[in-house]
Amino acid sequence: MDLKHLFDWHLEDDATWESQLQRTRHHYRNPSRSLDSTPRNLGLIFFNSSLRTRTSMEVAATRLGAYPSVIIPGAGVWGMEWRDGCRMDGESVEHIREAIGVLSRYYDGLGVRLFATGTDYALDQNETRFKKILESATVPVINLESALYHPCQALADAATIKEHFQDDVHGRKFVLSWAWHPHALAHAVPNSALLMAARLGMQVTIARPDGFELDSNILQLAQKYSSQHGFTIDESDDQDIACKGADIIYAKAWGSQLRYEDADAEKALRDQYKSWQVRKHHLGNAAFMHCLPVRRGVIVEDAVLDSSEAIHLLQAEFRLHSQISILERAWNLI
Ligand code: CP
Repeated sequence: MDLKHLFDWHLEDDATWESQLQRTRHHYRNPSRSLDSTPRNLGLIFFNSSLRTRTSMEVAATRLGAYPSVIIPGAGVWGMEWRDGCRMDGESVEHIREAIGVLSRYYDGLGVRLFATGTDYALDQNETRFKKILESATVPVINLESALYHPCQALADAATIKEHFQDDVHGRKFVLSWAWHPHALAHAVPNSALLMAARLGMQVTIARPDGFELDSNILQLAQKYSSQHGFTIDESDDQDIACKGADIIYAKAWGSQLRYEDADAEKALRDQYKSWQVRKHHLGNAAFMHCLPVRRGVIVEDAVLDSSEAIHLLQAEFRLHSQISILERAWNLI
């Protein structure tokens, strides 16, 4: 059986990406309820916290006439063992392979949020844990943010941008701006935002201090998308210069790869750049985007978030529409 997992969009062809974008915008323009009469159950497994993904997925499922339930391992649900071939004589009661195998027998689809560990580079870089879930599932699995990718966010972001510019997107300047944060956050959102903007045919600039480069494989893939539109990805360590002439400034904090080797050194490096914040003077005519949650006064000035240029709430709304279209695909409703 061809299971329509969604791990990341780069594994899907352009026709699928385009069709999903169109369906997402269709749902934005034509909100409707109970689109399907076949009762389905959706299991939403959250190894990490969420506001938007959890609630928008619950509403998306309900709008399709499905029944969502949220499963939080470690909170009233057995703690999971991830290692294969180990003797499970510690605290973990259930192996992920049995857990996903069992849940596949109850649910018609699974959504899984499983962030990077931030401590085990190989595990995160290879998406080892998420791949175990994909291997163990016998129903479609939707990635609700893994170590490297956040495809639900990416589809919502792409639809937001297309809607905001009324499809006049090609060649517009998209600045992915690093911002300081008290913690070394993972790369899933910046990776997915970069790939999304390059695939849309925007001219992408990454503004980030030295030491905060994104993964070279992701950059290479983004460059491939950009080249198809005749562009190259620019990088700058000067936030003011990078933001000049932007059509979109997409702010995001992420940690240095150094965190895997030396967390204290990473923090010392990151703390040198506390002034990196999106401010009103960066905007010009640009729209401001952020995946949320956002720390006001840290990532971005209040004056930006409270301005008419900020489209972060529309962006959040599109999470709902994008996930309806993702569920439709998973369940062959389109
Ligand atoms: N952007 C996003 O995924 O939000 P949550 O972490 O609240 O789900």
